[in-house]
Amino acid sequence: MIIINFKAYEDATNWKARRLSKKCEKASKESGKKVVSVPQPQDIRICDGEVFSQHVDGVDTGSHTGSVLAEGVKDSGASGTVLNHSEDRMEKEEIEKSIEKCGEIGLTTVVCAQSPEECEELSKLDPDFIAFEPPELIGGDTSVSQAQPDLIEEAVERSEADLLTGAGIKNREDVEKSIELGCKGILVASGVVKAENQYEKIMELCEGL
Ligand code: G3P
Repeated sequence: MIIINFKAYEDATNWKARRLSKKCEKASKESGKKVVSVPQPQDIRICDGEVFSQHVDGVDTGSHTGSVLAEGVKDSGASGTVLNHSEDRMEKEEIEKSIEKCGEIGLTTVVCAQSPEECEELSKLDPDFIAFEPPELIGGDTSVSQAQPDLIEEAVERSEADLLTGAGIKNREDVEKSIELGCKGILVASGVVKAENQYEKIMELCEGL
């Protein structure tokens, strides 16, 4: 699985989010691999293909101003959500509530963790996937699979949930290495959003799976 986090990049919001999601959908059909778009919550409804939210809160409908409702992102077309991204960290209790809420309504959960220790700790909350992303490599030119293969192996061993990895992923070799180390897929943002040809880059990453 390849999860493409659109973050809040100008090139991946509003109608550009829709266009990028269409490229993800096309690459998924062409390659036969699962490619998931992760736009801003307000863009979910205009995106095509398989879509996850960047976050949901573990609250029920009611008086929760500013919260992102799990039901809301599901109604908008998302089939899952990222939680606890390094750029949007949550308290452990909040993560637990959000996982529970997503479980009730059938949203897939991908919980981000910054270290193998945290992968182990958060996997005990029973998410569908743990995503190991060393924060210092996010958005950089060196991929986690090149820089910290030993930590990926340790995270795979310690996590009770299937492991994904991300940070600095740029090419087919980065994906191949992650899979070789035991991951089920990768998370990527800048490597795709800022690519000269986004569709070709997604296809290249799919070939590494
Ligand atoms: O969620 C994926 C993200 O944090 C990795 O970002 O730009 O290093 O691919 P990037």
